[in-house]
Amino acid sequence: MDMGLRDKVVVITGASKGIGLAMTEAFAGEGARVIAGSRTKGEGLSRLSRAYPVLPVAVDLGAPEGPAELVGRAVEKFGGVDVLINNVGAITPRGGFLSVEDEDWRWAIEMNLMTAVRASRAALPVMLERGGGAIVNVSTVLARQPAPPMVDYSASKAALSNLTKTLAEEFGPRGVRVTAVSPGPVRTPLWTDEGAMADAMAAMAGISKEEAISEGIPQSMNVTLGRMGEAAEIAALVLFLASERASYVAGSEHLVDGGMIKSL
Ligand SMILES: NC(=O)c1ccc[n+]([C@@H]2O[C@H](COP(=O)([O-])OP(=O)(O)OC[C@H]3O[C@@H](n4cnc5c(N)ncnc54)[C@H](OP(=O)(O)O)[C@@H]3O)[C@@H](O)[C@H]2O)c1
Repeated sequence: MDMGLRDKVVVITGASKGIGLAMTEAFAGEGARVIAGSRTKGEGLSRLSRAYPVLPVAVDLGAPEGPAELVGRAVEKFGGVDVLINNVGAITPRGGFLSVEDEDWRWAIEMNLMTAVRASRAALPVMLERGGGAIVNVSTVLARQPAPPMVDYSASKAALSNLTKTLAEEFGPRGVRVTAVSPGPVRTPLWTDEGAMADAMAAMAGISKEEAISEGIPQSMNVTLGRMGEAAEIAALVLFLASERASYVAGSEHLVDGGMIKSL
């Protein structure tokens, strides 16, 4: 199926690893030109930039001017932006609500909400000038499912889900479709890095990291399909939402969680 993405200019935040890297590969494979932003380039982006029109940009997206700098590189190099994927996000497991300080809250809101606010504010005028575009925000199941150790992450992602609706309402009539995806647990460095969440969960449950990834995490999160997701499975949905095949999809948030969320 032709997704209508050939030669489109796609900006992806948090592109060097995990879901962002899988999306960069998916869009590049459809013939899009990808501006891939992260602090480091890494092996994955280096490989993709040799095979496709992928431009890795080293940028701190947590800095106030970072997102606009990334969008600016797309305009400079390719003359505009058609698609923005607000993917960058960060999580630090907490010891419960009472232990989370103002500084922790500020960090979570900066990384999970303000990165998308700033990238959207920079990209929207450019999209409107071109007559339209698409923005896809990467939220999480925790935007609707309570998880006390992730209280600041969950609340900042819930704000991102809400922002999706508001931007869709304001800019849909002017040709920009804004949507969100909410993944369940996905096997990426966010979980699998040394000392990251898979290690923490393994230590808590008294099992190995491999057992945590293959069974412990999906079981404890009640994932119907019984496994963690793969980054490419999230990328496939994001690619569809950003494509012309999703031309009547706007303002909606789409679960891609292996059945984890049981409510309608
Ligand atoms: N994995 C999951 O289970 C899961 C579930 C639900 C939602 N999500 C969401 O999906 C998105 C991607 O998650 P992931 O699991 O792929 O994460 P990940 O494996 O930790 O990758 C994060 C990406 O963001 C980049 N990044 C982090 N801080 C940055 C900064 N300050 N400036 C620029 N780039 C930065 C990292 O690259 P550098 O280190 O090179 O900067 C990396 O490319 C996040 O928004 C996350 O909340 C993930």
